[in-house]
Amino acid sequence: MAVLRIVKYPEKVLKTNSKRVESWSQDLSQLVMDMFETMYAVSGVGLAANQVGIPLRLAVIDVRPNGKSKKIVLINPKILGLDGKAEDSEGCLSLPGLYKKLERAAKARVLAYDQKGIPWEIRGRGLLARALQHEIDHLNGKVFVDRLPFMQKIRVQKEIKRYQPIWQQQVRPRLTTASS
Ligand code: NI
Repeated sequence: MAVLRIVKYPEKVLKTNSKRVESWSQDLSQLVMDMFETMYAVSGVGLAANQVGIPLRLAVIDVRPNGKSKKIVLINPKILGLDGKAEDSEGCLSLPGLYKKLERAAKARVLAYDQKGIPWEIRGRGLLARALQHEIDHLNGKVFVDRLPFMQKIRVQKEIKRYQPIWQQQVRPRLTTASS
């Protein structure tokens, strides 16, 4: 297993509408394992494949219900239904340190395939509902700040400019390690 580099905003792959997974190979299972390891290494609750530079419709989630790990693999996910409204603080591993209150649906119902190609349905509320919507947005080339109201979206760009030198620095040590 390997910890992969997490792409930082505004790298182009984050704005890519990811392609459907068409074949379930050993490489895909390996990628799923690496994505979980990468997500756990930075204490994240969700990670989409384009956040590790691979524009495929694949995401992993673990919101640790009751403090217990529960791995969720979403391949070619489709939202079947959204219900209610909930506002909560939201962040993203591709914009580390930046958190904003964001309104999303309170409940989500999603159809997806797992890493073995088996279709399954998941129903989420609370943090899981939010994570499902956040990760599916990633697969459609959207990050959470794109969902902010217009004026806030403009203001957040200034904050992002201040963060960017830090985000770029975080890349360097990992690249040095990988090349040594
Ligand atoms: Ni994210």
